[in-house]
Amino acid sequence: NRKIWLDTDPGFDDWFTMLLLAANPALDWVGTSVVAGNAPLAATFDNAQRIQSHYGLSAPLYSGCDQALAGGNETAQHVLGASGMKTTGEPLPPVAATAAGSGPHAVQALIDAVRRHPGELSILAIAPLTNLATALRQAPDIAASIPEILLMGGSTDGGNQTAAAEFNIHADPEAASEVFNAGIPLRMFGLNLCRQITLTQAEVRQVRALASPRAQWFAGYLDAYQRIRSADGAVPMPLYDPVVAAYLSHPEHFEFRPAQVDIELQGRFTRGMTVCEFRPAHQRKPPVQVAMRIDAGQALPALMDRLIYCLG
Ligand code: BDR
Ligand code: CA
Repeated sequence: NRKIWLDTDPGFDDWFTMLLLAANPALDWVGTSVVAGNAPLAATFDNAQRIQSHYGLSAPLYSGCDQALAGGNETAQHVLGASGMKTTGEPLPPVAATAAGSGPHAVQALIDAVRRHPGELSILAIAPLTNLATALRQAPDIAASIPEILLMGGSTDGGNQTAAAEFNIHADPEAASEVFNAGIPLRMFGLNLCRQITLTQAEVRQVRALASPRAQWFAGYLDAYQRIRSADGAVPMPLYDPVVAAYLSHPEHFEFRPAQVDIELQGRFTRGMTVCEFRPAHQRKPPVQVAMRIDAGQALPALMDRLIYCLG
């Protein structure tokens, strides 16, 4: 089985991703680090605990960094509400009394996990990269032991948080720059890809048709999430973080192109932009594999099948 570590900031699409990972029997989920992102850390960690206990997920959960490397905590609460979840008013699922809330800091837990599984632990990063960058600062030796980072973030073609920058990169560009320059093989699943696989009310209806109470609960959130639609008028709703889980199940649905990717740290209008140099002759460091195309006609039904199996 492939060993994975998840770094996340739930967030509804992060929750969706957690269910898809839990439903994949080919994965050995070693642990989860939570970071501030969609909402402040207290809320993202609380959300993670709720899904963990509500869905019986067993990978240990650790609370991590609450501020970007340069300070501050940019959230998506203006889109997703105070909890970082998009709800239509229904309460969040309860946390079981036994849900783990203590333990080492997520950065230490991540360092320990990489050292326990040298060369074997793929890191799935679906949030601002503060935890990962901090781990690499504290233990630079682990870079050589991480086989791959699979990142939802960035874009070859316009942002969402700003015209140029995607949220996960814009929330902590210094962290992103350090992770992109750490020499670790990296696959980038950016907005240019996620906009090719979209959710409609048809997927919401598929989940609503399931009888189980937890499917009904999930359908309510999926409905609210599907109705967000991005402020730039994109209809229907792009699927973000779950593409990483989709890749682990069906890599054959994806096409990549190597590029040198640099993170803009200074631009007045472009801070947090992922600047992609696709011309091989101009690449001065090992390239990032940039996801360019997803076969959504195959990938979306496969992903919905897995979700339905998990919720049914
Ligand atoms: C990313 O930003 C967050 O709001 C989502 O969870 C996803 O990780 C999309 O830009
Ligand atoms: Ca996320």
